[in-house]
Amino acid sequence: MLNALCRTRRLARFVLIGALAMGLTLLSRTHAQPAPDKQTVLITGANRGIGFEFAKEYHAAGWNVIATARKPAEAVDLKALGEGVRTVQLDVTSAESVAALKDTLHDQPIDLLINNAGVGVGLTGGPLLEELKIDEFEQVMRVNLVGPMRVTQALLPSLRLGKCKKIVNISSGLGSIGWNGQGGFYGYRESKAGLDMFSRTLAAELKPEGFVCIALIPGWVKTEMGGPNAQLTPEESVTAMRKVIDGLKVGDSGKFWSYDGTSVPW
Ligand SMILES: NC(=O)c1ccc[n+]([C@@H]2O[C@H](COP(=O)([O-])OP(=O)(O)OC[C@H]3O[C@@H](n4cnc5c(N)ncnc54)[C@H](OP(=O)(O)O)[C@@H]3O)[C@@H](O)[C@H]2O)c1
Repeated sequence: MLNALCRTRRLARFVLIGALAMGLTLLSRTHAQPAPDKQTVLITGANRGIGFEFAKEYHAAGWNVIATARKPAEAVDLKALGEGVRTVQLDVTSAESVAALKDTLHDQPIDLLINNAGVGVGLTGGPLLEELKIDEFEQVMRVNLVGPMRVTQALLPSLRLGKCKKIVNISSGLGSIGWNGQGGFYGYRESKAGLDMFSRTLAAELKPEGFVCIALIPGWVKTEMGGPNAQLTPEESVTAMRKVIDGLKVGDSGKFWSYDGTSVPW
């Protein structure tokens, strides 16, 4: 009887130590620091479209990738990329979500931030101001303009610790005032024009610290937003944009470029 009790206690101790060890391993994995020799990129809206292609290509190029998704549990393509890609929840319109992202990162160095998450409005509706739904307009401004500003503000400590110091805001040709001869696309145009101004203002502020901040147009790309008739595949667009990003120098800060590195009128 006494022997059986001792055996049960030994077994319980064994199970407890095993569980503790497993817990510690899981904990260390959750807070695993990326390999220090690798560069780190954070991409918003990386579960699909252009953002996913960025995550895939930077991962293939050997970077640590922090890929954000509004619903990480559903980001199956991102998860399939495997080790080296960390998926983190982020809704760029939510102050709580952005604060949680900042906490999760513990001010770890980020070399490159790609503010990619975005939504369209007026892309399928009519071209007239009377047809614009103002609540939709406010939402697109929150995602496409306030979102990148909020995310960048929160991640500045991490970006200051990074070596590359690059911030890329994914804009649109529809945000160019110079190119706007046709009108329409109310809401989307204003949000991207605002994002371009943010890029330029941030570039001026952070230039003395060696940052490069640009607004970059991906071209018309076959994604949920771009539709099936778009000119470029995500791969064609992102491969070209990565070339531009790789080649950025401090003197390029504050520029507004297309995916192929050509200059775009504000
Ligand atoms: N495709 C084009 O032809 C084209 C042209 C010019 C510019 N762009 C720009 O390129 C960027 C990527 O577009 P895309 O074509 O890849 O579009 P997409 O396929 O529609 O993907 C948009 C991404 O943004 C995310 N997102 C939307 N709202 C968000 C929020 N509140 N918080 C966080 N993430 C959010 C989406 O997440 P969910 O899956 O959770 O919705 C998704 O991951 C956008 O900024 C877009 O304006 C695209």
